[in-house]
Amino acid sequence: MKLFVTGGAGYVGSHCVKRLVAAGHEVTVYDNLGAGHRQAVDPAATMIEGDLADTAKLTDVFAAGRFDALLHFAAFLDVGESVQEPLRYYRNNVINTIGLLECMKQAGIKRMVFSSSCATYGVPEDLPITEDLPKQPINPYGCTKLAMEWALQDSATAWGLGSMALRYFNASGAAADGSIGEDHRPEIHLIPLVLQVALGQRDVIKVFGTDYPTPDGSCVRDYVHVEDLAEAHLLAIEALEEGRAESYNVGTGNGNSVLEVIAAARDVTGHPIPIELVERRPGDPPELYANADKVRARLGWDPRYRELGPNIATAWRWHQAHPNGYQA
Ligand SMILES: NC(=O)c1ccc[n+]([C@@H]2O[C@H](COP(=O)([O-])OP(=O)(O)OC[C@H]3O[C@@H](n4cnc5c(N)ncnc54)[C@H](O)[C@@H]3O)[C@@H](O)[C@H]2O)c1
Repeated sequence: MKLFVTGGAGYVGSHCVKRLVAAGHEVTVYDNLGAGHRQAVDPAATMIEGDLADTAKLTDVFAAGRFDALLHFAAFLDVGESVQEPLRYYRNNVINTIGLLECMKQAGIKRMVFSSSCATYGVPEDLPITEDLPKQPINPYGCTKLAMEWALQDSATAWGLGSMALRYFNASGAAADGSIGEDHRPEIHLIPLVLQVALGQRDVIKVFGTDYPTPDGSCVRDYVHVEDLAEAHLLAIEALEEGRAESYNVGTGNGNSVLEVIAAARDVTGHPIPIELVERRPGDPPELYANADKVRARLGWDPRYRELGPNIATAWRWHQAHPNGYQA
């Protein structure tokens, strides 16, 4: 298939592009490189540097490209920043995505996989999280993702868009072959931050809150490997049905606490990784982990990485070889 991938130079997008290319798809990446890295883009993909807001450019590219389907990763994703600058988040994640959908509609592209998030659930009423639980996001980031899921549902009815919103839990790890990995600036995710301590780039890792109602008092999350996410996208693209909007949790189903992540990283790296216990951060739900039965039944998706150790080992391999990320 001819696939158009927004945000394909970013962390999750670049791993998906690598998988889609390996499966024989013809991939065009569209990214403004604001947070992405040109070196992360598989050389077999076509890279177009452009912004989602540039709908004239998108219109031209779509007219020339005749794409079968689109994967939409481009967005801002720092929850804390979204609280500080909500309008920036609504502009990029909502308004720019609406512009993209308008261009797709005009060009007759009726298939899309959308990067949604477990942030759409807010503080879940039950665990593990099933898709039918109430969606009550507690920050602007989660609101922008939920708003776009609504737009996808209405577009299915109105103009036949076929979409899958994949609600990722915590994306983690790196390509098993060591070729690409995670490089967010500033880094906001736990595993790379922990590995920065092991690399001697920071002194300690802060643990925000030790009095949550969880087995060890620290927050619990579901760490889904980025290559397993890539596999979910490959399966999704092949299963999309025009006129149908679907939403699925994509997580391992295992919850791991912050302290468990640090312990696993100590085992992988052999570094003591000192910690500093600090106050809770406002807006952190105590526990988030997926029930992923629906995506398993629909797509046959089965994550290969279920344990923290092998997952963190892939990230460690990347960070050791690239201590400054994509910067030489
Ligand atoms: N990383 C996670 O744990 C996680 C979890 C849930 C959902 N998600 C979602 O997955 C997607 C990818 O996340 P990621 O971790 O790869 O983020 P990332 O920042 O590494 O990648 C996003 C990419 O989009 C590009 N981009 C952003 N705005 C753009 C614009 N206006 N025009 C063109 N390009 C633009 C950036 O340059 C970047 O390359 C996001 O939509 C995010 O909300 C990520």
